[in-house]
Order: sequence, then C-alpha cells, then structure tokens
Amino acid sequence: MTTLPPTASSAPDPLLHANRLAAASLNTLFSTDAARAQRFSLRACAMLFDYSKQHLDEAARQALLDWANETHLTAKTRELFDGLPVNPSEGRAALHMLCRAPASSMGMFGASAQARLSEFCQQREAMLQLARQIRDRELVSASGLPLDQMVHVGIGGSDLGPAMVVQALQHEHTGPEVRFLSNVDGAALEHTLRGLNARRTLLAITSKTFTTLETMLNARAIIDWMAQESGCTVAQIIASQVVGITASPSTAAEFGIPANRTLCFDTTVGGRFSLWSSVGLPIAVALGPEQFEALLAGAHSVDQHVLSTKGSENLPLMMALIGCWNATFMQRRSQAVVPYAQALARLPAYLQQLEMESNGKSVEVDGTPAQSTCPVIWGEPGTNGQHAFFQMLHQGTDVIPVDFIAAREARHPFTEHHRWLLANCLAQSRALMVGADAQDPHKRILGNRPSTTLLMPRLDAHALGALIAAYEFKVIYQAMLWGINPFDQWAVELGKSIARDVETALRAPASAHGLDGSTALLLSAIHSNS
Ligand code: F6P
Repeated sequence: MTTLPPTASSAPDPLLHANRLAAASLNTLFSTDAARAQRFSLRACAMLFDYSKQHLDEAARQALLDWANETHLTAKTRELFDGLPVNPSEGRAALHMLCRAPASSMGMFGASAQARLSEFCQQREAMLQLARQIRDRELVSASGLPLDQMVHVGIGGSDLGPAMVVQALQHEHTGPEVRFLSNVDGAALEHTLRGLNARRTLLAITSKTFTTLETMLNARAIIDWMAQESGCTVAQIIASQVVGITASPSTAAEFGIPANRTLCFDTTVGGRFSLWSSVGLPIAVALGPEQFEALLAGAHSVDQHVLSTKGSENLPLMMALIGCWNATFMQRRSQAVVPYAQALARLPAYLQQLEMESNGKSVEVDGTPAQSTCPVIWGEPGTNGQHAFFQMLHQGTDVIPVDFIAAREARHPFTEHHRWLLANCLAQSRALMVGADAQDPHKRILGNRPSTTLLMPRLDAHALGALIAAYEFKVIYQAMLWGINPFDQWAVELGKSIARDVETALRAPASAHGLDGSTALLLSAIHSNS
C-alpha cells in the first residue's frame, strides 16, 4: 500500500479518483444520472445492497475494481478455501468456512481443506447432539434434577457471536434461557446468578485456549457457587453440570471436564470467526438445531457467492471496496453501523471485534508499515441513534459514513411500528445526503454525507447467517487489499501481561515498582481512602 498522500505519479488510481471526487455532490451525481440507484446497487445472497449514496462514479468504481484485480483477490480467495496458511504469523490456515460447509460441498475446497471437512462435520454433529440433549432435558445435575437453565461463560469471539445471534433471533427462542457472562466485573457475575437454581443450572465454558482469565475466573466462581448452593463437591459439579467448548481439549481435561462433555473446534477457526463452530452451542440450545443449521446455510450461500462471483456483482467485495474507499482514500476514519432492528442491538459490538481485531493493524504481512487500515467501527440501533448521535452525523465537522441495515418484513404483528422503523431508516439515509438549507447557519445542514443500505427480506436465521458472512468476507477482502493479516491479534497480549503486574501490586502494595507515575498514583489512590 502506497504511503498516503503519495506524489501524483505514484498514487494508486483510487486515490486519484478520491482527490477528484472529494468535493463531489451526491445530489448532483443523482441529478445527472437517472439510473444511478440501479447502477450503484446490487442484489445478492437475498440482500439488496444500495451504495448509490457513496461518492463514487463509474471511473472510481472501476479503479477500485482494478485495484482488487491487481491485488489478486480471486487467487487469494482460492488460497483461503484451499486451506493454505493465510495466517502467516501463526502459520495457520483460516478454515471457519468448513464449519458451515455441508459434507456435499467438498468440491468448493482444495485438498488441504477437504481433508479436514469430515472432522469439522463430526464436531458439528457432536455439538448439535448435545444441544438436543440439553433442549430435551436429558442431562441431570449432581443433585439429580434436570438441567433446564444455562449459563454461558466466554469473552470476545467466545461470546459476541453467540450472544448476538441469540438476541437477533429471539423470536425463534424455543429452548431454555441462556444467560451470557463475559466481563470479569463481579457485578456481571452477580447479575447472572440472580434467580438461578444451582441444582438445575448447566455451565458452558467457551474458550479457544481455555486460559482466558476472565472466563476461567467466572467459571470457577460459578462452579463454586453451584457446589455451595447444592451441597455437592466441586468435582461432582464439574462432572455433571459443566460443558467445555474449546480448541484445547487437553486444557479442558486438566480443568476436570469429562471428554464426553467437551466440544472441540479447530485451531484454524479464529475466535471472531467461530460462532459457526462448536462455539455455537448456546445458539443451538436456545433456538434449536434447525435454526442453527439455517444460520449455517445462509453463511454457506455467501461462501458459494464469493467463489463464483467476480467484480461489482460480488457483494462482500463491494462492501470491502467501499469501506476502503471511505477509510483509506477519502480518509474518513470512522464508520457507523446502524441496524434498524432492535434485535440486532449487539451487531455493532460483534462487528467491532470482527473488523477492528482483524484489521486494526499497522504492519503489512511483509513487515512494512501499513497506512490507513481499519477505521473505528461503532454504532447503535436505529431509531435510538437518531436521539443520540445523529446530530453529529448530520452537522458534525467529520464526515462519517453510515451502514444502514434493515429487514423488509417484520417478525411481529405491529405493522405500523415496522413501517415507521423503515421510514426512519430510509429518511435518515436521504437526510444525510440532501441536507437542508437555512439562512441561520445553526440550522443549515450541508448534507452530502455518504451511506449504504443493506436490506434483508426478514431477520431470520438464513438471512442473518448471510449478513454475518458477508461482513466476514468484507473484512478478509479489506485485509487482502491493505496487505495485512486479519487472522492474528498479537496486540491483545500486552494489556493482559501488564494486568498481571498491576493485580499483584493491588494485592501487595510493596511489590509496586517499575510502574509509571500515573499507574503508581492510581494504585495509591485505590489503596488509600483519598
Ligand atoms: O481478544 C483477544 C482474544 O484472544 C480474542 O481473539 C478471543 O476471541 C478472546 O480473546 C477469547 O479468547 P478465548 O476464546 O481463547 O477465551
């Protein structure tokens, strides 16, 4: 990636077009092209993707597509599906697509990946079988009672995906209540346990490494609580009321979890790409195996789409190119995601990890500096956002592109509510573009602010699976374009290491040395009453 801003002769074409279109008017782009909306939108994977409210014209779009071709995205996508080590810093493939691949889809994958498909299918079936047992209350607690309440402990990719999906498809919730606990904050633990019956509670511990501090501390606290409340031993609780979900079964075994209560997934499945794997147990328990399989099918349809569709008809590719257009070439370093569906309230948080833990990188795969990679991803559902941050989106000093997401059909009987929800979604996208003139500068809204709209038919499992997989490939395509590795996350280890030193200092003040003055000041304030 060329260092920005390059000299005119070395600039990649998209940057030349960005400089040309920096002051372009969306209103003018529409007024001079009656077919603009049709020409800058696409239908794929059962979704309508309208990107006509972006500062793009044919030449700029072609320059972006040429950039994708020059970056050999088709060949790199083939490497991904062939199971090559696309995660070079960890020497791994990225095979999360296999988690959602039916056994019959062998032909989509290359030899290295094909060799793993049957194992992935076995892991999936083991998870679904356990989900059925839990839903049918076949599991019995150490106290001899049916396990009909579930607590799920995990964090990051071991929480965000399952929790987001269970909330998004809440209208399909036919199984036991599943409570998600992720934060190490004891208030979250206390809230999770409130009202639970220890004698009827199943604890699912999800951790790819089975070492994450928050997860292990929460898991042990819940096990201790269950033992105390039920009068059973910890060993009895772990033997009958705990399930482990991990890529490190040996560590789960050291924890004491029986092999027949341990669900595995492969190390080639990244945490933020793992909801399709055994990590999806809470989804299958809450919604049922059929809903989980519909979710997988939706995602698999995107796998098929990206392998068979090129250029401007490739939905995730266009999502990726528009994201790069705004973040890298137009230097718009913030990106809002506003789902007009309260059930998708956790989608922005899920996408924060998917996008920013994948592409929040400043070094290319070859070790050279990268420039202007992932922007800040944030958001909240509409219409609530209109009463919180849309003032800034309309009249702030920064141009912040918005991804609007909506479902044409409601999953509830309140038709007037849904009509107003959709009306507000379309209105906000239009208002950002057209603005409003006024003599009073305080009331003048300049408009010309870009957005895209993804319209799903309805918020069901298949559509949600497709939406999530589309964003996954958007992220992976962007990494290919930026020349970075989306599958590692080395920076997360530093804070964990320092936290161990600070925790020691909190326990034993005398050990607080070698820390900076600010940390020392804060530690002393915590120790004293001042
Ligand atoms: O945030 C760092 C991270 O390693 C994520 O990549 C991962 O999803 C999360 O922590 C939890 O890790 P584990 O699943 O190993 O507990």
